[in-house]
Amino acid sequence: EQKGLKDYYKNYFPIGVAVNMAALNGQQAELINREFNSITPENDMKISVIHPLEGQYNWKNADAIVDFAVSHHIKIRGHNLLWHTQVPDWMFRDSTGALVSKEVLLRRLKDHITTVVKRYRGKIYAWDVVNEAIDDSPEKYLRNSLWYQICGEDFLAKAFEYAHEADPTAALYYNDYNSEDPSKREKIYRLLKNLKDAKVPIDGVGLQGHWKLNDPSPDLIRTALDRYSSLGLKIQITELDVTIREPRPRTNRPPDTAATMPVDSGYTERIARLQADRYQSIFQIFRDYKKVITSVTFWNLSDRYSWLDFRNGGLAGGAAASINTPRIVRKAYPLLFD
Ligand code: XIL
Repeated sequence: EQKGLKDYYKNYFPIGVAVNMAALNGQQAELINREFNSITPENDMKISVIHPLEGQYNWKNADAIVDFAVSHHIKIRGHNLLWHTQVPDWMFRDSTGALVSKEVLLRRLKDHITTVVKRYRGKIYAWDVVNEAIDDSPEKYLRNSLWYQICGEDFLAKAFEYAHEADPTAALYYNDYNSEDPSKREKIYRLLKNLKDAKVPIDGVGLQGHWKLNDPSPDLIRTALDRYSSLGLKIQITELDVTIREPRPRTNRPPDTAATMPVDSGYTERIARLQADRYQSIFQIFRDYKKVITSVTFWNLSDRYSWLDFRNGGLAGGAAASINTPRIVRKAYPLLFD
């Protein structure tokens, strides 16, 4: 049998990949089985997919991904239990459309977390319990989501408590992007420290890792790993990709002809080498931190489909996205496999 990444990294940490339904068959399934020993559902455990109407759960896709993983001895990361996006409106509103009280929202959150986490109890080694709750602007601490507007800060601790109660064996994570940026890093640190000080059951922090060729710098990555692990938390890299083309076309910029070319011609040797060097230096850091890093997950399988690809002016991602998504006009080539 050909060795894969998971074999080379067996003395370090599991190597994961985010998947959608299309990845469970054929060539994509073969690639997953050869290279990876952890998977994350890209969208299928998000509230909008798994719990589209109050009390009505749609387990089909999540079950299929979990069954695939269990039958192939692949570990599963759960993603995610609370986010400001991909959450249906019913969560926050009553039948007249008015925002519900804090009490009602926390009860709905508890119902949701308890039902989903219990269903997969013992099968999920880590859950992203809260995703992206920190604000991006330097002046503001928490994101002004409906969770925050209705509950204040309290939803944070509650989400972890509900999840821990439903599956005491799962490691519980706070997950965010740009977590290496010094100003955002300190706000995330503050949030994590508050939770730890309040004895909230949190095990670690997920760094999404949607990175570029030169940004964040290796120094900033190491500083972030030091800073978060100083709280006694584990770290998982949850959504790694290294885009080699800015994903958002600026208005008024002429169309990028290279981006409409097939993969082989758009992806030059020179830029491929820069990306390989970048991945090498990133993974050197991860190996240096193997005592605190407990898994590294890529966000998608190969450059044939990435959520960072552009299609008709919008990100290509979406609940139904797959490598069959038509009319990609601007590709990001952020992954290891072509
Ligand atoms: C993305 C998916 O890849 C897309 O298919 C979807 O349209 C939007 O969400 N941070 C996260 C992930 O935590 O859940 C996001 O996934 C990417 C950014």
